[in-house]
Amino acid sequence: MTVSSSPPLVRPPAFGYCTLPSGKLELGCEQRPLIQLAEQYGTPLYVYSATGILDRLAMFHRAFAHIRHTICYSIKANPNLGILKLVAQNGAGFDVVSGGELERVLRVDRTLARHVVFSGVGKTRAEMELALQNSILLFNVESAAELKVLMETATRTQYVAPLAIRVNPDVSAKTHPYISTGLQEHKFGVPIEQARRLYRIAANCPFMRVAGVSVHIGSQISDVSSFAAAMDRVAELVTQLRDDGHEIEYVDAGGGLGISYDKPQSDFAKHIEKYARAVTKPLKNLNVRLLLEPGRSLVGFAGVLLTRVLYRKTNGNKKFLIVDAAMNDLLRPALYGAHHDIAPLLLRSGRVRRELTDVVGPVCETGDFLARGRMLPVVAESEYLAVLDAGAYGSSLGSNYNTRMKPAEVLVQGKVANLVRRRETVDDVLRNEK
Ligand code: LLP
Repeated sequence: MTVSSSPPLVRPPAFGYCTLPSGKLELGCEQRPLIQLAEQYGTPLYVYSATGILDRLAMFHRAFAHIRHTICYSIKANPNLGILKLVAQNGAGFDVVSGGELERVLRVDRTLARHVVFSGVGKTRAEMELALQNSILLFNVESAAELKVLMETATRTQYVAPLAIRVNPDVSAKTHPYISTGLQEHKFGVPIEQARRLYRIAANCPFMRVAGVSVHIGSQISDVSSFAAAMDRVAELVTQLRDDGHEIEYVDAGGGLGISYDKPQSDFAKHIEKYARAVTKPLKNLNVRLLLEPGRSLVGFAGVLLTRVLYRKTNGNKKFLIVDAAMNDLLRPALYGAHHDIAPLLLRSGRVRRELTDVVGPVCETGDFLARGRMLPVVAESEYLAVLDAGAYGSSLGSNYNTRMKPAEVLVQGKVANLVRRRETVDDVLRNEK
């Protein structure tokens, strides 16, 4: 065991420690102690900070204030209805990739459909129909074959489909290969040099309305020069398309801005500004409305997964904390080897004893880990931990693997904590089986 006095990890303004009269430090979400929530709702438990999310949304609006824009929150990052409602009330639209995600928006408020962009390489006819009936803002079409089906569906249903072609700019996003989408070898988008032909085909169909150009090159991107390179190519295409006689009202720049997973990011506002410059510089003088599809950068740091230590275990000289959250609750470490900081909910003040340990769940796979070889403050059985930066692609990537129930989710704003998803029961999980 080693001893260190490094400061506790926090994510202001969403999560931070406060000092108790006993001198111990207690982790809270805004003004609610997390231990209280863990005891009230049980663990594993997702806790989100509304203020954290709204703070980020405001940063985006400020950074893009110089250009007409709509922020279409990418629902896949965290589709909880409580979060959708929160961002919608604060002026956001949505990026959806399935009929199911669109249904979520409609449940919040049917009129929000007109702020929805629909992306994805495999839209079905039924999904297209749902989107057409609800007059969404934009279809981001990803292939010639999809365009054909959209034209047929729009013509058959007599709804006009507003269209952007999602182009593949063949630009490297310099991120994890599983979440990189902007190279020609990826399944996404239409090679940019073939796009003009598709616009020409679409323009000849009376039930299509050419409206924009769309691009999304990947996720968890930290080098903003990749966005700039993609937007350069998009801007060039917008000019060509206008020369071809198309009305291009929107440029959809997709999402993908990365966050820091191993430290609090106090300069995120600056990071968004840099991103905004990279995205908007090529669009200068084009007079388009910019659509943005951020997911992770809005909600990632604003969520934690609370878990309780079930057992301490030592195999040879390897230590394990076996906790009640597992890869079915938070898949990112198992799937991408992703790092998530972990912080105890209660911490002794001053010098803290630490140990090298793996944090693992109860699922029957060696890949079921939340952290490996991590130096963590020593915690006893029954104590609680927070897995940080779990607001994006945490709950949304969750499953019922090992017939584990999905956790409850709580949204905190100031002192108020609202249960926005109750814990699943066995009956919920077995309902559709015979
Ligand atoms: N727009 C489109 C078309 C997308 O495919 C995505 C993410 C986004 C926007 C939002 O990207 P963001 O701003 O969140 O980076 N499960 C992975 C991330 C997958 C991202 C998929 N597409 C992870 O946990 O890192």
